Amino acid sequence: MWGPEGLDEAEAGLLGPPEDLRGKDVLEVGAGAAQCARWLARQGAWPVALDLSHRQLQHALRIGGSFPLVCADAAALPFRDGSFDLACSAYGALPFVADPRLVLREVRRVLRPGGRLVFSVTHPIRWAFPDEPGPEGLSVSASYFDRTPYVEQDEEGRAVYVEHHRTLGDRVRDVVACGFRLVDLVEPEWPEWNTSEWGGWSPLRGRLIPGTAIFVCERD
Ligand SMILES: C[S@@+](CC[C@H](N)C(=O)[O-])C[C@H]1O[C@@H](n2cnc3c(N)ncnc32)[C@H](O)[C@@H]1O
Repeated sequence: MWGPEGLDEAEAGLLGPPEDLRGKDVLEVGAGAAQCARWLARQGAWPVALDLSHRQLQHALRIGGSFPLVCADAAALPFRDGSFDLACSAYGALPFVADPRLVLREVRRVLRPGGRLVFSVTHPIRWAFPDEPGPEGLSVSASYFDRTPYVEQDEEGRAVYVEHHRTLGDRVRDVVACGFRLVDLVEPEWPEWNTSEWGGWSPLRGRLIPGTAIFVCERD
């Protein structure tokens, strides 16, 4: 699943036709509970699910699946050059690092020539709106151009959640500067069947502004 709109890879085929995934080495970056790796394994691919969070990987382990789980930083991938045919990331790692180019360069390094990276992030336009599912989430309240990160702190002032904003142009420049060709930029529309509300995502907002941006890139 690429985002809260509900677009899934079986329908989107952004990594290529599902029947071509068989036998492919695939890295899932910022895998969380490894939902994508689990689906890829069912298609006959050889996924590796990587996440910085040991806790998330414990969830992955509990849910199950016979593929490797790797606890590591996406900006320092513990793999040899050219280890993977494909890489994917659904809202993983990239929105949470101050310098996404460190991650993109690492992913490029571990991809084979012509390898594809598909990643989704919150659509950058959402930065300008309050993260509310109702009408209050429809009026611009902040500058789209303000790159100051969103930070939540605990009682001792330690950052416990940080999200970094990049404009659409920033993301395109990051991808290209790190040696990828941008093949497509997918902005899934909110489908009629999806009536769920989740955080700032809702049918109301989904029909008016995009919620997810999916970058389809190939190693140049
Ligand atoms: C919003 S969750 C997405 C999880 C999963 N891809 C999904 O679709 O549900 C973001 C994940 O990125 C991971 N993450 C954040 N920074 C990371 C980094 N530098 N390296 C690897 N993983 C990271 C987090 O631990 C978290 O599991």
